[in-house]
Amino acid sequence: MLVFNKKSDLSAFLSPLINQNKSIGFVPTMGALHQGHLSLLKKSLSENDVTVMSIFVNPTQFNNADDLNQYPRTLERDIQIMQDLSNNIIVYAPEVTDIYEGNTVSENFDYDGLENQMEGKHRPGHFNGVGTIVKRLFEIIQPKRAYFGEKDFQQLQIVKKLVSKYKIPVDVIGCSIHREANGLAMSSRNERLSPMAREKAAIVYQILNNAKILFKTKAIEDIIIYVTNEFKKHPEFQLEYFEIADENTLLPVLKKEANTKYRGFIAIFVENIRLIDNISLN
Ligand code: PAJ
Repeated sequence: MLVFNKKSDLSAFLSPLINQNKSIGFVPTMGALHQGHLSLLKKSLSENDVTVMSIFVNPTQFNNADDLNQYPRTLERDIQIMQDLSNNIIVYAPEVTDIYEGNTVSENFDYDGLENQMEGKHRPGHFNGVGTIVKRLFEIIQPKRAYFGEKDFQQLQIVKKLVSKYKIPVDVIGCSIHREANGLAMSSRNERLSPMAREKAAIVYQILNNAKILFKTKAIEDIIIYVTNEFKKHPEFQLEYFEIADENTLLPVLKKEANTKYRGFIAIFVENIRLIDNISLN
């Protein structure tokens, strides 16, 4: 398995492959790999001639210095995990300087308002950081296809908007959410939970599923009240938001309309760790 730390070396390796019309699949990550990441990787391996995975904890998308410092960094283990999966993965694991060249700031992006909802509202600047890194990685790697998880559904929609606005020739492919056996959405942040909290956090998905059942018969405001009240019964969880939004615009909705796809989105703290999840409602 090849591991590159410098974009110049990676580009030099990839450019003859691009010239030979080989399809490059790309899976951007921040490492601390789990089965959710690997499901994206497997999809890319099955659909492309070459698969590149990046591992880079991108400083510009963190709006909280503690969160950035505490983000798990497990490069050696990650490389071993990938090696066990396939010898054909090309890894790009740069230092901050290779990407930002001494200027660790975000560009500003206009995603037609998608950035003003949910994660964008609660994590100021986050999606400028995501857009900055994803655009740079696309420029370096020039993938034909790039794989993003629905776990970060807003991010997926934002990346789709980024490529359409900037006319970047890459197919952005959304992949379904991978869950632990108890239903908790897999996340690198789960590793920071105590075993007890990790078990209890199963209620997040249970409550989302109940919301989905209620969606068939109840008004949206009643579902929001239900979710809010459920978490009040579990004070170890601090609900940051639960919203029901149109999948495409991500605007919160208060009344159901025909021909619209809805999703419930949640952000919640447990043991000071912030977890997000979402569920398709119809
Ligand atoms: P990270 O959180 O490492 O996630 C990398 C990719 O894996 C994202 O597309 C994310 O949605 C997907 N993913 C994470 N958990 C998943 C799960 N349980 N099921 C399915 N897919 C899952 O998202 C980022 O990194 C960064 O913002 C990045 C795009 C790499 C830019 O820095």
